[in-house]
Amino acid sequence: MKTPTKRKSSVKVGALFEEYCSESSVHGVRFFVGNQRGACVKLIWVSVFILSLAGCGMMIQQAYNKWDRTPVIVTLSEVPTPVWDMDFPAITICPEIKVLNTKYNFTHEFEALQSQWYQGKGTTNRTITITDESIGKMKAIMHHCSGIYKYEGNFMFNFNHVPEPNLVDFLKDVALDRRGVFTMCSSTSDARCNDYMQVTLTNEGICYSFNMISQAEMFHPDVLQDEYQYLEPWDTDGATVERGELLKVAVMVKFSAVSYLRNAANACPSFSAQRGRGYRVLIHEPTVYPDLSKRNIRLSLSQTLTVALKPNIMMTSPELSKYSAQKRQCYFGHEHPLRFFRRYNQDNCELECLTNYTLARCGCVHFSMPRTNGTRVCRFEEEHCPYDARGALFIRKQNRTGTDDYLLRCDCLPACSSVRFDLQITQDSHTEEREVRTRFETLEELQARLQM
Ligand SMILES: *[C@@H]1O[C@H](CO)[C@@H](O)[C@H](O)[C@H]1NC(C)=O
Ligand SMILES: *[C@@H]1O[C@H](CO)[C@@H](O)[C@H](O)[C@H]1NC(C)=O
Ligand SMILES: *[C@@H]1O[C@H](CO)[C@@H](O)[C@H](O)[C@H]1NC(C)=O
Ligand SMILES: *[C@@H]1O[C@H](CO)[C@@H](O)[C@H](O)[C@H]1NC(C)=O
Ligand SMILES: *[C@@H]1O[C@H](CO)[C@@H](O)[C@H](O)[C@H]1NC(C)=O
Repeated sequence: MKTPTKRKSSVKVGALFEEYCSESSVHGVRFFVGNQRGACVKLIWVSVFILSLAGCGMMIQQAYNKWDRTPVIVTLSEVPTPVWDMDFPAITICPEIKVLNTKYNFTHEFEALQSQWYQGKGTTNRTITITDESIGKMKAIMHHCSGIYKYEGNFMFNFNHVPEPNLVDFLKDVALDRRGVFTMCSSTSDARCNDYMQVTLTNEGICYSFNMISQAEMFHPDVLQDEYQYLEPWDTDGATVERGELLKVAVMVKFSAVSYLRNAANACPSFSAQRGRGYRVLIHEPTVYPDLSKRNIRLSLSQTLTVALKPNIMMTSPELSKYSAQKRQCYFGHEHPLRFFRRYNQDNCELECLTNYTLARCGCVHFSMPRTNGTRVCRFEEEHCPYDARGALFIRKQNRTGTDDYLLRCDCLPACSSVRFDLQITQDSHTEEREVRTRFETLEELQARLQM
């Protein structure tokens, strides 16, 4: 009973197929049927048809894969951005000289301690006349000197029991007078330069930043320790200047950074020659916390630095927010909240990642790293650990194996809207000015001479 109906329906389908093929406007299909054509011809047409379908399929697949891998197309904007619509970048300047001799006679004390220690070598009974307070201060200053703490036989490690003073307060106290560092700052806007200056803690120690956002805008205050500030307004003595806006780019700023050499002590005596008496300069976005170990411009004392900036603005259209961050290779501000920083950007994320890594590896962090109440700052004898951690993380970054879950967890993609500055640097020396300046101890002395 069943077979005839089945045959009947298959005949029906066959007729339908034949009708479709002969009437279809799809090219080639017409030649699949027809009594006048041989089976061979029909077969060839069918296979040509299937081959072309397969070819189309492959091309579609390729196009899909390409879109899947890189859904984002980078285009150059046709519309130029006027320069006054942009924020002026922040400039962070770190003097390489960390101690002012008049505040703490570091060179003298260090040499005295060193000679007393080595004179008593071999005897059980050394006479050290340097006070514990002074030794503590020395250790605090030597936090700057990777050359010292990496050297394991360093005699300073015999004083590990001596307590260090309150590190950040002490370092700020003995640092070069900020008004001695910047004697002149002029800008083409009418704002006073000093209103834009802040004292910053970086891996280079105490630095000065121009035109950066404030501590309250940079960090989440509820997670941060409240022992010391990472960003402090320049005029701490007077009423704190409340800065409204950041400077715009259409401003030319000129700094004169001058040190009075006679009073300056090199923080890392005899161990490291690489520390000179110049400055390290970093130009960055105002929302980025400066990290000078990644890049900086070194400026020696007798040099003038002229920098032309070419901002590279990357903007991402909001429609891309429906794609995953991995596909578009960037984060919108709210997508990757950081623990310490309010604003997401790649540099802040990397600094936080380094902080997490350092804490996990060493159990303590460098004083310039953001930390909570519960995290302590590494002591002098532990300071090699954050230094090594930085190097280790850098190597792991170069060698991404995919199994390295630490870096994957950090996941520091660039921010979807960010500005990078291409720098064009001209350095030239101005020896006469240095000659004049270094002969006098202070600005007052210099001015007094000029008025005579
Ligand atoms: C540091 O101490 C040495 C030796 O006592 C002294 O000659 C030098 O003048 C002192 N330096 C300062 C700036 O007080
Ligand atoms: C320690 O040194 C002092 C003077 O340098 C000496 O008078 C004393 O005998 C020494 N004590 C010992 C135990 O060596
Ligand atoms: C940190 O500790 C101080 C005192 O020890 C306390 O007043 C402050 O609230 C703590 N801060 C945080 C964020 O826990
Ligand atoms: C890269 O990582 C793998 C696995 O962690 C390790 O075996 C290899 O030695 C590393 N290579 C370098 C150059 O560090
Ligand atoms: C660092 O660690 C904290 C706490 O474990 C975490 O909330 C934060 O996301 C980590 N930061 C990064 C950049 O991985």
